Amino acid sequence: MSKWVQGTVVGRRRWTDRLHSLQVAAPEVTFVAGQFGRLALPAPPGSKEDMLGRPYSFVNAPGTAPHEFYFVTVPEGPLSPRLAALMPGESVWLLRTANGFFSVGELPDADALWCLSTGTGLGPFLSILRTPDPWARFGRVVLVHAVRHGDELTYGDVIAAIAAARPGAFTYVPMVSREAHPGALAGRIPDAIRDGRLESRAGLALTAENAHAMLCGNPAMVDDTQKALAARGMRRHRRREPGHVTVETYW
Ligand SMILES: Cc1cc2nc3c(=O)[nH]c(=O)nc-3n(C[C@H](O)[C@H](O)[C@H](O)COP(=O)(O)OP(=O)(O)OC[C@H]3O[C@@H](n4cnc5c(N)ncnc54)[C@H](O)[C@@H]3O)c2cc1C
Ligand SMILES: NC(=O)c1ccc[n+]([C@@H]2O[C@H](COP(=O)([O-])OP(=O)(O)OC[C@H]3O[C@@H](n4cnc5c(N)ncnc54)[C@H](OP(=O)(O)O)[C@@H]3O)[C@@H](O)[C@H]2O)c1
Repeated sequence: MSKWVQGTVVGRRRWTDRLHSLQVAAPEVTFVAGQFGRLALPAPPGSKEDMLGRPYSFVNAPGTAPHEFYFVTVPEGPLSPRLAALMPGESVWLLRTANGFFSVGELPDADALWCLSTGTGLGPFLSILRTPDPWARFGRVVLVHAVRHGDELTYGDVIAAIAAARPGAFTYVPMVSREAHPGALAGRIPDAIRDGRLESRAGLALTAENAHAMLCGNPAMVDDTQKALAARGMRRHRRREPGHVTVETYW
């Protein structure tokens, strides 16, 4: 049995010149919310492998169709510009099985779950927050989406639906670093943790006693945020050594 499943593009959304979502029909492919799959296209002639593949987080909830992926085009990258050019009806290949431990089932108990993302790192949180699991496990959930420019604050419709479904339990905090944007916190996540602005905006403490933090996106943000959380006594969570911080980096 081939490890690749041939999927069909059934929808696409272009948010900005660089930010895209792709909807793909591939019912054989299953995953747990927060995991990533692998999208692939035929490799250029002369390549060692037949297919050119990269990992992408699922944005839809498990058990729903179609699958959805949210990605940024890296102009010089070999795959992402080709994915952005796909049209409905065209094929894209997916690995049959999903991977990763960035999921609620891997987390220890806590009062609050903080979901901290930059850029396309928002994606796995949308999948997680569209399942019942985080709401059964945590009394409060905060979703932070940090971007450079206001037009990169995407998926407002999905986030509004989550907020409507979870009154009192859900807080969305948009952050924009390179321009003033109405309603958004200014600057970067680690600075807003250090100076208390994030907690004050969410109306909730972020401490080793009450919280678990999931971090996803830019690896420099993940590093710097871990340092800011370590200063509060929050350390990396591992199966054998429970902690307060779970991370996924995209590059
Ligand atoms: C576990 C995992 C999950 C991922 N999920 C997603 C996802 O849901 N959405 C997504 O857009 N990407 C995701 N990525 C990155 C993705 O796999 C590709 O690397 C990216 O789409 C670029 O592919 P490429 O072949 O064009 O260039 P690559 O050769 O893969 O990358 C070239 C360079 O682009 C930069 N880069 C890569 N990904 C990103 C990114 N997301 N944002 C900004 N700069 C980047 C890095 O500097 C990298 O070295 C994920 C990566 C990992 C490891
Ligand atoms: N978005 C664009 O317009 C654009 C244009 C051309 C190329 N790119 C390239 O695309 C890639 C990803 O783009 P992206 O838009 O997702 O941007 P990104 O660089 O990942 O930025 C997203 C958010 O993360 C913040 N950030 C960056 N480093 C951080 C750190 N160490 N700690 C905390 N927060 C941090 C950024 O703040 P700051 O704004 O303060 O950095 C921004 O608010 C980058 O490699 C970039 O070079 C992006």
